[in-house]
Amino acid sequence: MTAPDPAPEPRMQELRELIRTADDQYYNRGHSDVTDAEYDHWFAELRKLEAAHPSLVTGDSPTQRVGAPLPKGGTLATIDHIAPMGSLESLHEAEEVREFDGRARKLLERGDEPLAWSCEPKLDGTSANLVYENGRFVRGMSRGDGSRGEDLTRNLRTIRNLPMAFVGDGPFPERIEIRGEVIMGREAFRRLQEREETSSEGTFRNARNTVAGTLKLLDPRIVKRRALDFIAFGIGHAEGIEFATHSELRRQLAAWGFAIAEPARDAKSIDEVLTYRDDLEAQRDGLVYELDGVVAKVDDTAMQQQLGRTARTPRWALAYKFAPRLATTTVLSIEAQVGRTGQVTPVATFEPTELAGVTVRNASLHNWTLLAERDIRPDDTVEIQRAGDVIPEVVRVFLDQRKESSKPVAPPSECPVCRGALHMEGKFLYCSDLDCPAQLAGRIVHLASRRAMDIEGLGPKQVEQLTEAGLVRSIEDVFTLADKKAQLLELDRWGERSTQNLLDNIERSRKPTFPRFLNGIGIRHVGEQTAKDLARNFGSLTGLRAASPEQLTAVDGVGEEVQKAILEFFESPKNQATLAALAAAGVEPEESAPTAGPLDGRVFVFTGGLSTMSRDDAKARVEEFGARTASGISKKVTDVVAGEAAGSKLEKARKLELRIHTEEEFQALLDEL
Ligand code: IVH
Repeated sequence: MTAPDPAPEPRMQELRELIRTADDQYYNRGHSDVTDAEYDHWFAELRKLEAAHPSLVTGDSPTQRVGAPLPKGGTLATIDHIAPMGSLESLHEAEEVREFDGRARKLLERGDEPLAWSCEPKLDGTSANLVYENGRFVRGMSRGDGSRGEDLTRNLRTIRNLPMAFVGDGPFPERIEIRGEVIMGREAFRRLQEREETSSEGTFRNARNTVAGTLKLLDPRIVKRRALDFIAFGIGHAEGIEFATHSELRRQLAAWGFAIAEPARDAKSIDEVLTYRDDLEAQRDGLVYELDGVVAKVDDTAMQQQLGRTARTPRWALAYKFAPRLATTTVLSIEAQVGRTGQVTPVATFEPTELAGVTVRNASLHNWTLLAERDIRPDDTVEIQRAGDVIPEVVRVFLDQRKESSKPVAPPSECPVCRGALHMEGKFLYCSDLDCPAQLAGRIVHLASRRAMDIEGLGPKQVEQLTEAGLVRSIEDVFTLADKKAQLLELDRWGERSTQNLLDNIERSRKPTFPRFLNGIGIRHVGEQTAKDLARNFGSLTGLRAASPEQLTAVDGVGEEVQKAILEFFESPKNQATLAALAAAGVEPEESAPTAGPLDGRVFVFTGGLSTMSRDDAKARVEEFGARTASGISKKVTDVVAGEAAGSKLEKARKLELRIHTEEEFQALLDEL
């Protein structure tokens, strides 16, 4: 034990910040670059410091709330839960579980009489709250901050085993909140990982993160393909129905058509809870779903009510986690690997080690900043973990076993694949070159996409084929494909018609508008909107290349980081060569005089349906006049156009007192310009 820190405040601040950042990544961005073990460690340390210094507990400390904050400026509406959604106290040791049981028995004044617990698996996904009215699904949301969650209704509707209506004739409760976990089965996750090899859906570290990310997608069609499941484990607010026990509630949920967590067990005492957990842990690899422990609930609902809850968690339910799967091994080397987006990450190679049935050889160390912080070095003895997923992580370095000769690995100074320049972006290192083979395919898919150069017939599959066959070795090669028609025709699935179509489409794309071109060439951070803003300000490639850093940052949406990315892009000799080659291949963006449109500085949001034009057309019109568009309401938004059946965005806009136009008013505004 170390002596208590006399001035713990800075460390407490730091821990809160670390936890907040990790929460934001996990809940709002669907990925995380800290391990669960690290996260738990921070949380425990903060709790301990706060317990020792109660006067330093702040209202906004992560220990004082449940779940994560709602995403800022997110595009999903937020909805209040009827009854708040809690969380469970996570216990890791049998002794802690016995203590929990002891406290409950004491509060219930039961003396030595054992308590009956209803046990079920703890599913490892994302919790959801579903509202049913008279047996019909009306909406569903994420847990969010416990009192309000994001509206996930559209995505939840795509989940095949989630009942749109209760099974049976009723009568059904007038209104009931059904709580459960959205998960992805082991098989579905494996299939998705395979598919990912051939698509641009991004990387999936484990099933849980994938579920979190998937539920936030705005396109329910992609959600549907991800094969999620909903498993019910409880209720929130309920009108017109009561349950005497949790086991009875489970039976009712199943009768209404919900999948419930299995295999469950009724435990007559806490000893049986402990046995249940050990039994299930022994079976974990054979189960359809990934589990991270068990949940035990006091079976009797009257007792549950009597026990009540603490600020964060109920006193009648606990989570008893499985032991993380750990092994000790040696780091053989740490090398730089380049991913499809050009991200250069450190990857450790280990002395091959058996870990819960799988031989582990490598693990990503995520990024160079984290590597430096955690100080993992070649030759180190480390503890690795395969927790709830297939991808192992380093959880601990045994510093006492470190050799004296040991040296940290520095990030590479050039791209290990193309030898080109690298640049940092936040914590991540990227290869700056356009046609680095490691990222070529992804870049071309982007170049050809609808909002860039719009080359139909050049999607991920085709690009992969072309790059693999060596027909396309750089971006500019796309525009000389016509010279290789004979070779194209030799490839699988390329007939005369499809080949000619593609060549025609490429031909047609040679004169893109400047913003499309700019979006397409893939300057980091320069997406569709920034490309439009830059085009409006500088008019042409020549104009943009001549822009000074100050002129660049004067453009809306261009900060320090974007400005640097633009300058770096044009400074790279390789990129200069690419631009020259594109010009030589006849790719010439249209030029336009820089404009200051009548709607300059205004930001439009469209909500609801328009009857006289599509939303894309409406956006294009206001952008033509210098406005920007956004998809969600924030303080930056100045104008909202509310069409047919406009919903929560309109309400938000009213609250913020933004300028609101009906469709007619909007039409009149356009006519005036
Ligand atoms: S009951 C008051 N039962 O674990 C909260 N939760 O750490 C009652 N979870 O937020 C929750 N499986 O997302 C319950 N069988 C189960 C569960 C389960 C997974 C999740 C749930 C909850 C989290 C708590």
